Amino acid sequence: MLICIPDIITPAEARQVRDRVLQLKFVDGSATAGVYARTVKRNQQLENSPETQKLQDFVMQALMRSLEFERFAFPRNMKPIMFSRYEPGMEYGTHVDNAVMSGRPPVRSDVSLTLFLSEPDTYDGGELTIQTLTGEEQIKLPAGSIVAYPSSTLHRVAPVTRGVRVAAVTWVQSMIRDPSCREILFDLEATRRSIFETQGKTREFDLISKCFANLMRMWAEI
Ligand code: NI
Repeated sequence: MLICIPDIITPAEARQVRDRVLQLKFVDGSATAGVYARTVKRNQQLENSPETQKLQDFVMQALMRSLEFERFAFPRNMKPIMFSRYEPGMEYGTHVDNAVMSGRPPVRSDVSLTLFLSEPDTYDGGELTIQTLTGEEQIKLPAGSIVAYPSSTLHRVAPVTRGVRVAAVTWVQSMIRDPSCREILFDLEATRRSIFETQGKTREFDLISKCFANLMRMWAEI
């Protein structure tokens, strides 16, 4: 299961971040890829600097404010935000994300996340393309929206053929390691919320709340 969440930041904020990012120095993205992914990764990434740090913090704080993101990902640890840029001819071929990413502490990648920063009509190609059991899912969202998906999938960024695709990516170590368990909890939460909104704090609401809490106790790694 993947989720698209609009308006993590506003279109105006996305434009400000994108404009600032494009004024800073980028380096070859293959440096941060694993041995095999390096052979298919053709993009650029923002170099670390105090300015980069400010932009990373801004995006991270926006993510942390999203209840929908929290309900989907159950974040425990996250990698710092990485800004990437694709010009015409650049792409990131099919790969799986590294399972354990270095850092202090190291982060197990359970959920991968892309925040789109370029408006879709300003570039061609550049779709995040995820392999699912029913075929490929192509995702290209308005600036300020995110897609989050299980890191266990094969995925790629299609070649950009016009314009510039700027995006921010990161990885989440979830309290709930198994994507099917996260999906059960996500659905239970949506169900109890719906009951609460339509019928109030009923006996059914209480029992679903009990199931949710007890499954969290069973599954959560904290
Ligand atoms: Ni990836």
